[in-house]
Amino acid sequence: MTTFEQPAIAEEIAGRVSSATVIRRDEPLAKHTTLRVGGPADVFVEPANEKDLSAILKFCGERELKFFVLGRGSNLLVCDGGFRGVVICLAQPEFSKIEIDGERLRCGAGARLKNVAVEARRNGLSGLEFLEGIPGSVGGALRMNAGAMGSATFDAVESVRLMDFDGYLRELSPAEMAVAYRGCATLKNHVALSALLRGKPDSVESIAQRMSAFSQKRWSSQPAAPSAGCMFKNPATIPAGKLIDELGLKGTRVGGARISLEHGNFLVNDGNATAADVLELIGILQAKAKAARGIDLHIEVEIIGEE
Ligand code: EPU
Repeated sequence: MTTFEQPAIAEEIAGRVSSATVIRRDEPLAKHTTLRVGGPADVFVEPANEKDLSAILKFCGERELKFFVLGRGSNLLVCDGGFRGVVICLAQPEFSKIEIDGERLRCGAGARLKNVAVEARRNGLSGLEFLEGIPGSVGGALRMNAGAMGSATFDAVESVRLMDFDGYLRELSPAEMAVAYRGCATLKNHVALSALLRGKPDSVESIAQRMSAFSQKRWSSQPAAPSAGCMFKNPATIPAGKLIDELGLKGTRVGGARISLEHGNFLVNDGNATAADVLELIGILQAKAKAARGIDLHIEVEIIGEE
């Protein structure tokens, strides 16, 4: 999208959606990510409801505009040049509801995972404790099949309500969604709107105990500084963090980006990192892992935008 087109695009979107949909130009994306680097989005929208989302997707299709669906940005690296297109964020209340129905929770894509875990605990439903420390949204967790403490998001999913890029709705089971370790191919060309999660009845006390044990484990092994979580997928032969640790690379720094001393698979932002710093550090780690052990480190984090 050229700068010349940008106001027109924002205006045209505004003409197709309700006034409750938020539309901004040149929105800095760093503040929408946990790593806190990266440039602006040409156009940034927060649709108010499914109808507006459908209209935005159809518009992007018609005009062949690049778009990206942003969750809480906790597994995302935005490049310094920003995103030439439309960033769609399902942050409005319509997309963030959590409704309990017996042993099931219907959770909007914009709902915070922590809130899902807390609601499940409040209703005596176990199996979702692992979500408490993942700093993401339900939509992002589905897209990445996010995991922690030995569980992954799709372990608890019964079905997902989706919108395809032409704006049409469907509900699919995990078996129909090409789910993988840290990924879900179906969500590369569909937007998750909500998920039906299944819990198992248990006492609130035991659920609370497990959540607090997970939280303690996380705080003792993972950094509090801004990061995008684990940067690499775990290779089959060794966890990426352990490998980076064994190679003596913790603390390695490029500009304001540094490999965490707490956990080797976390690249943290010391406050003034650029995306270029982070990308250079990633390249150093990949080259050293390959040279020293013959291991290819594959990036887990999604990278968008222009360098
Ligand atoms: N280890 C080290 N040094 C390090 C880091 C880890 O020796 O610097 C060792 C640990 O002692 C342990 C092993 O490596 O024996 C695995 O470490 P950890 O238990 O921290 O798990 P991980 O495989 O590194 C995975 C997920 C995390 C999740 C944790 C906790 C991946 C890529 N990562 O990390 O998910 O929080 O388990 O359950 O699967 C993420 O995906 O963004 C993420 C943070």
